[in-house]
Amino acid sequence: MQKTSACAKIILSGEHAVVYGKPGIALPVTNLQTVIKVEKADTFSFVADKELEEHEEKKLHDLYHFVSSSLKVKPMHKIHIQSNLPISSGLGSSASLTVALIRSLLVHHGYKLNDSKINLLAFEAEKIFHGTPSGIDNTVVALEKPVYYERGSIEILNLKFPLSFIIADTGIRSDTKKVVEDLRKRYEKDEVKHSAIHDKIEMVTRRARPALEQGHLVELGMLMLENHNLLKELKVSCSELDALVKAAIKAGAYGAKMAGAGRGGHIIALVDEPNRDEVFKALEDVSPRIIITEVK
Ligand code: PMV
Repeated sequence: MQKTSACAKIILSGEHAVVYGKPGIALPVTNLQTVIKVEKADTFSFVADKELEEHEEKKLHDLYHFVSSSLKVKPMHKIHIQSNLPISSGLGSSASLTVALIRSLLVHHGYKLNDSKINLLAFEAEKIFHGTPSGIDNTVVALEKPVYYERGSIEILNLKFPLSFIIADTGIRSDTKKVVEDLRKRYEKDEVKHSAIHDKIEMVTRRARPALEQGHLVELGMLMLENHNLLKELKVSCSELDALVKAAIKAGAYGAKMAGAGRGGHIIALVDEPNRDEVFKALEDVSPRIIITEVK
């Protein structure tokens, strides 16, 4: 049985605003992976290395049937899923599962892998999880490269230096679809206010791009914090995320922000050699799970 896999992701800038056509920057997290093996079988079944809630199992069924019918392969497989990604935590677990599943079925049936085509199918499949996804999650996961994403247009970013991020979990799961829908309702009630915040997020993202590419840590860190404060104004943060951001900054991180849909999930903190241990220790005290990742 051949194994295929797909990485996790973090959003460096522009989540939520990206759903409204603004640019977003996402980075792959390659030390977290969903690994899938496919076995020929008489019908569809799966085994996963973690317990899934009923609604998650249902989504997995829907995803599998959508992908197998799109690829025109008979739904006769036993799918083995192994993953070190936390579910519903802003690290792209659904995109990672989707891309890994598409890859695994393609490999199993002897097809060639084409990441751009995989990305297009993953975008359609993501709708099962998120309703109206912007497309940024499936793109960064399928291409496994830093991306600048705006209304479906994708630019791969080349970083002058590798950057280190500490990812800290609140331990609270959150449902992206629900957070995005709630924000949509608030947007429809007061478009002027929300559009103005989206415009500010857009400015931050446009400035974050060269800072990321050139490795200007102080500038990038400042923009991350600005982004976090704007997400707070959109009411998608929560006290637990704010506390982790505060702890990271207090311990000397260049910047920190919630990453992903919010109302739970993770924060990311930008660090380098001199401040990494200090920030790690400070976050370890207040977060149930910490991951360090290097983005190249
Ligand atoms: O929390 P995640 O990993 O599902 O990230 C969602 C990012 C959003 O901008 C909130 C939604 C989207 O479709 O882009």
